[in-house]
Amino acid sequence: MPHDLVIRSVRNDEFHDAVELCRSAVVSVYAGLFTESELRPWTEGPETERYVMRRMSGILVAVLNGSFVGMLCVDGNTIDMFHVDKVCRKRGIGSVLIAEAERRIAAAGYPHARLECFERNRTALHFYAARGFYVNDAYFDPKAEARKVEMLKPLA
Ligand SMILES: CC(C)(COP(=O)(O)OP(=O)(O)OC[C@H]1O[C@@H](n2cnc3c(N)ncnc32)[C@H](O)[C@@H]1OP(=O)(O)O)[C@@H](O)C(=O)NCCC(=O)NCCS
Repeated sequence: MPHDLVIRSVRNDEFHDAVELCRSAVVSVYAGLFTESELRPWTEGPETERYVMRRMSGILVAVLNGSFVGMLCVDGNTIDMFHVDKVCRKRGIGSVLIAEAERRIAAAGYPHARLECFERNRTALHFYAARGFYVNDAYFDPKAEARKVEMLKPLA
């Protein structure tokens, strides 16, 4: 893990940075499943602002040398919008982010951390499985026209 990496909650004055990070997350997770015009309400329109506004208190950011390089959102026991900038992957940043999310979920008293992932996202599925998540359910998402899995991880 890079030594100057900081994982922390996003601050209220960083709303616009959180929206930009979230837009990058949407593109990296949904590109290929939705067309550019279908993603536009998220990449340019108000959907991402709405999402971030409702979830500011659950957003964790990874900050490297003062720049945001990754994020996720904790909502109850669910982890969402997990993303690390392409150029910063495979350096341990995602692992530290998700470990902090799990710590917060456990501290809030939940027995499991939960997330959803597209079945075709083999890198993410492998990443989660290697960190103790198992597939609890699999289903077809009619909006994305793709299969998704729900994964759970028991928390000590
Ligand atoms: C999933 C994702 C967040 C992981 O982030 P990341 O920062 O690359 O995660 P890490 O670096 O902690 O781990 C990734 C792999 O690199 C390895 N790694 C970590 N540090 C490393 C290093 N210094 N050298 C070599 N490999 C390293 C890890 O062991 C891990 O491999 P493993 O899964 O086989 O254990 C990232 O791939 C991503 O943003 N993907 C696109 C968005 C996405 O699909 N999100 C999930 C939606 S459900």
